[in-house]
Amino acid sequence: MAYDSLRPYLQVLEQQGMMRWVDVEVDKDWEIGAIVRMIFRAMPEEARYGIGFRNIKGFPGGRVVAGVIGASKRMIATATGAEPTAEAIHDKVISGITTPIPPVIVPTGPCKEVIIREGDVDLTRFPIPTWTPGKDAGPYLTPLWVTKDPDNGRRDVGIRRCQIKGRDRTGILFGAPDRGGAIHHAKWKMLGKPMPAAIFIGADPIQYLVAPSRYGEDEFAIAGGVRGEAVELVRCETVDIEVPATAEIVIEGEVMTDMVEPEGPFGEFTGYMAGGRECPVFRVKCITHRKDPILLGVVSQFPPSESSMLKVALLESNLLKHLRSNLNIPGIADVHALEAGGCTATCWVSVKKIYAGQIDQLALGIWGYMGMSYFKWIVITDDDVDIRDPFMRDWVMAWRVRPDQDMRILKDTAAVELDPASLLPGVEGDQIRGGKALIDATKKWAYPEVSLPPLRQLRKVAGEWARYGLPPLGELKLPKASE
Ligand SMILES: Cc1cc2nc3c(=O)[nH]c(=O)nc-3n(C[C@H](O)[C@H](O)[C@H](O)COP(=O)(O)O)c2cc1C
Repeated sequence: MAYDSLRPYLQVLEQQGMMRWVDVEVDKDWEIGAIVRMIFRAMPEEARYGIGFRNIKGFPGGRVVAGVIGASKRMIATATGAEPTAEAIHDKVISGITTPIPPVIVPTGPCKEVIIREGDVDLTRFPIPTWTPGKDAGPYLTPLWVTKDPDNGRRDVGIRRCQIKGRDRTGILFGAPDRGGAIHHAKWKMLGKPMPAAIFIGADPIQYLVAPSRYGEDEFAIAGGVRGEAVELVRCETVDIEVPATAEIVIEGEVMTDMVEPEGPFGEFTGYMAGGRECPVFRVKCITHRKDPILLGVVSQFPPSESSMLKVALLESNLLKHLRSNLNIPGIADVHALEAGGCTATCWVSVKKIYAGQIDQLALGIWGYMGMSYFKWIVITDDDVDIRDPFMRDWVMAWRVRPDQDMRILKDTAAVELDPASLLPGVEGDQIRGGKALIDATKKWAYPEVSLPPLRQLRKVAGEWARYGLPPLGELKLPKASE
């Protein structure tokens, strides 16, 4: 089922116990950030819910929701219309990538109910929270940015942090220089012109789900493919950019290309604060919004977070599709980007080894597709291993790797964006460099059998457990190798 906008989706979340509203007065400058952090620090994934605030100190009538896109797999499944399993979500997204539906332009939409033009623009009217209180440089939006390639007009949609610097001025961080939006900015800069841009908040949650990945295709068309219906777009008032008609808030303007100023710090997906670097500035020319806009924040910062949940759900399916279908690499069982690394530092792959060079082809295919600012560790193991089980990953690292032979190091290349191990003080821009490691954790010869009783015997005793007069068992966890 396609959601027309954020609102019917929030209602479904509420009906299904995945969204709660807080009516007690809260302070946007510290309390909202602290409350939503608890979703990830004090709740198991299955119990997580999004939170809405509708009594915000100093902002009568203002509403903020957070944790409503990627708090849990169940929530992501609800947003995409898939069953709540990693496989079903992957399949749904892959179907959107393989059968994109181009967006359609409509004359107007709810996002134009209120139009505020230059001079009257004032971002501080919105209850924009400070997400890492006492540490962030100030309030931040976590919106979707839409830009166009000046060479061919191709659109890009990406999530980027957005520091509120004044009534009509924000910062923008292009963390990795090889992302679509960052490349657009570099091209506009080469032309000596500011980059037209629009930020939007809200609309169908699928926009947030597809934006953090890269497809080489218009993300609105991918979103259309996932939802099974074209996304309706409206033209902006002051820039040649289109945004979803049902967005809650749209902020139009230009990202400057002739000046930079310090941005951040901001609590980042690595689990550390990052910022203070010289970054471009976004000059706001116009704001359009619904009469009673809902401000949506994506909870990032320390993993796990919505940032890691979104990436794990969508980046993996995107990558899997690329490796299997575009590169035709056979035997791939699974691809898993680890949440502790914000799904950006470490990628595991399980594969049936069939030919020489397959492991290198996989690793180079991953870096080639994701860009060198992704994955400082790629670990590839055999298809008998459940790479989603942390204990099995440790077991593989213990006994399927010879450190002196099975690791390939790529020195002095692009760093994982915002990796504190690479962001040395005083080092900026192109000078930020990092290293990569490929660990071939496949068996290099026909290993002996695993030291467990045969699976059929384990299953037999498990099935008859009560007969032994012992307390109930938990889930039977075995390496596939024990079959
Ligand atoms: C919650 C969240 C916040 C993000 N913030 C930023 C950011 O501030 N800067 C950035 O360069 N990438 C950020 N990213 C990663 C980008 O969205 C990602 O690299 C994406 O590929 C960029 O889109 P593009 O390739 O279409 O330009 C963020 C991702 C998430 C999930």
